[in-house]
Amino acid sequence: MLREEVYAILAARRGQFVSGQDLSDQLRVSRAAVWKAVEALRRTGCTVEARTGLGYRLVDEGDGLTAQRIAACLGTPRDNIHVLDSVESTNDTCKLLAARGASDGTVVIADRQTAGKGRLGRRFISPAGQGLYLSVLWRPDCPPEALLPLTALAAVAAARAVERLGGKAPGIKWPNDLVLEGRKVCGILTELSVEAESDHVAYVIAGIGINCRQQRADFPEELQSIAGSLDMALETRVPRAALAAALIRELDELRSRVLFAPHLWWEEYRARCLTVGKRVQIVLRDARQEADALDVDESFGLVVRYDNGLTETVRSGEVSVRGLYGYI
Ligand code: BTN
Repeated sequence: MLREEVYAILAARRGQFVSGQDLSDQLRVSRAAVWKAVEALRRTGCTVEARTGLGYRLVDEGDGLTAQRIAACLGTPRDNIHVLDSVESTNDTCKLLAARGASDGTVVIADRQTAGKGRLGRRFISPAGQGLYLSVLWRPDCPPEALLPLTALAAVAAARAVERLGGKAPGIKWPNDLVLEGRKVCGILTELSVEAESDHVAYVIAGIGINCRQQRADFPEELQSIAGSLDMALETRVPRAALAAALIRELDELRSRVLFAPHLWWEEYRARCLTVGKRVQIVLRDARQEADALDVDESFGLVVRYDNGLTETVRSGEVSVRGLYGYI
């Protein structure tokens, strides 16, 4: 796309003016086309200064989320990252791609989701320009049980990406909500398709939603004491394209090294897990029971002790764990 080619040249010569003629020669398009591409770039949030006789200069790259910017942050070209303006749900788009044969490692990112999905049938509010909504499709050759730790491991991947760029270590509310300053900044929804005949996984999708730019008043009233964003919690502003690239790197690492050796990230998960040691309420459909959260076992289940003395390990599928004193 011409807009991104213009961006690449201006970004490579950051701070310097590049003449319209120079751009049109390099890109083999008319100067009018260059001007249109600069206008399109501005619409993505970039500040581009234009001066007669000097040309164009990139002043601020804004927070645009495009395949080229993500690739520039990744440093290696990849043809399986799809960046879209608006979708119902990146998990659902991934499923469509999976049905058409998309390969292991395909990533779908959207600037906005109109029907973002959360765990346990909830919705995930996903306004344009405010968050990172990313799903990755994998095709591991294994039975479904082998992927039990995935939802927790995806939380570690997301926490690492946020920490690398934001400088603060997110905690994890079991099983996989990222928490900064006591508020949920990220949710994860994993979905699985199993081949009926072989009882093996056909594909798995890990969908990660990170609130980036929101302020308290941007969330619906009922979520304002619970939900947060990176901007609310961090001193630095983490650009969404850089965050997407960092997250893709961590997910690559998870897929290639950790998925079938989950113990590699187990200690880190436990260290980040904020639920252990807390008084919680275990909600399974309509039944609620209070308990003490004791530990996380080696398959990332939460070990709890009920008030009658019985201990149980709860798994993430259908259970919701609520803090009794606040969100965690
Ligand atoms: C939760 O907190 O309940 C899980 C939220 C998961 C949201 C992400 S955003 C990207 C992907 N697409 C979706 O529709 N949901 C996940």
